[in-house]
Amino acid sequence: MKFLEIAKILGGKEGSVAIRGWLANKRSSGGIQFLFIRDGSGIIQCTVRRDKFSEKFYEYIEKLPLESVLEIEGIVRKDPRAPGGWEILAEKIKISSEAYEGFPIAKKYHGPRFLLQQRHLWLRNRKMQLVLKIRSKFLQLARNWFEANGFTEFHSPMFTQAACEGGATLFPVKYFDTTAYLTQSWQLYAEAAIASLGKIYTIAPSFRAEKSRTRRHLTEFWHLEAEIPFCNFDGLIEAMEEFITFVCNKLAEEMPNKLKEFGRDPGDLLKIKPPFPKVTYDEAVKIIQAGDIEMKWGEDLTWEREKYLANKFKVPFFVIHFPKGIKAFYHKPNPSNPKVTLSVDMLAPEGYGEVIGAGERIESYDELMKRIEEEKLDPKNYQWYLDLRKYGSVPHAGFGLGVERTIAWICKLKHVRDAVAFPRLINVVYP
Ligand code: 4AD
Ligand code: MG
Repeated sequence: MKFLEIAKILGGKEGSVAIRGWLANKRSSGGIQFLFIRDGSGIIQCTVRRDKFSEKFYEYIEKLPLESVLEIEGIVRKDPRAPGGWEILAEKIKISSEAYEGFPIAKKYHGPRFLLQQRHLWLRNRKMQLVLKIRSKFLQLARNWFEANGFTEFHSPMFTQAACEGGATLFPVKYFDTTAYLTQSWQLYAEAAIASLGKIYTIAPSFRAEKSRTRRHLTEFWHLEAEIPFCNFDGLIEAMEEFITFVCNKLAEEMPNKLKEFGRDPGDLLKIKPPFPKVTYDEAVKIIQAGDIEMKWGEDLTWEREKYLANKFKVPFFVIHFPKGIKAFYHKPNPSNPKVTLSVDMLAPEGYGEVIGAGERIESYDELMKRIEEEKLDPKNYQWYLDLRKYGSVPHAGFGLGVERTIAWICKLKHVRDAVAFPRLINVVYP
């Protein structure tokens, strides 16, 4: 018999079926055992009756360690008491891989440190599985939007010598006789590629040697970035609004029940629509100061400040026009107030804070050179980047979205590490 995915059965396939999967849980009472089988597509209850099997086999099944792999043939029937509403009455059972005793993850409470060490097994946990499914769907929807809007997917190298987001968080790599760094962002290379491909995007890892241990910093995170030629600051904001609206609305439509398991009301995502609320950096400083949190004009939004601000909103919102001193060298100064830049961060509501960094880029060679010198960067490393301003420079803008931060907000997670399968943190590179 052909094996059927459990999701198909939960979707209403009746009759005789064969399934296979891992023994996620079990329970027995008198002459009946309930085996909960998980196959990646879903989980289903299989009922094993003592009178259907030999005594010896029934007892063997009773002792079978969790996470053993089984093949089960039986009859599907509706049962409102079973999780998912369906169960299989087992008629034939084959054990294709008997697990060792002592699966390290028990039903009791385990601390986060232990679970990080056991991540390779913890992935099977229901919440972990759901986050990874939601993450996959999120990225699929993102690609759909880019595809529908004429973007080309473009990839840049991971080894680079040009710091995009400042030297403090660069990861050096011994690169034969020289030093290279792991990329912090695809952006600089993207600015080269727009003259060839037009609108482009990527979904790739970025690296930051973040020395801070916070709930929203990874040393390796997935970065969804877009770069758009012939696009100014207002055009950039519109593109981000349309993108975020599409992905969040669709996610709510396609995975409402999975979202609810995290306490996320799909209605929260459905109410997202353009235009998003906008506050200038100047206004943000005033709001934060009024909240009795210390902040001087010109300082960056720390975690405490951002959290305070983001708790005032129920939908994603923009903070615009950050001062020059706290934004990377490539940001275009605002022509009507050159102390600030045409930069914009998108903050997630409910205290989550920054999930997107974005802005219009400097277009002119001289202005870019001036900023590189002001920031004491070595122009040698940026010669190719400066060239782009010599040969057909156009207004252009782009954004970078942190995938883990966005998923953490959507799924109401406490820590970004739980939005990725194998998080890399200052003190975690195993497994
Ligand atoms: O704000 P950032 O540094 O912006 C850039 O890298 C731009 N070059 C992007 C662009 O315009 N193409 O980073 C963008 C986003 C942040 O808003 C945040 O969501 C995420 O990347 N991010 C991190 N996520 C997890 N851990 C970290 N250490 C992160 N650093 C940045
Ligand atoms: Mg940023």
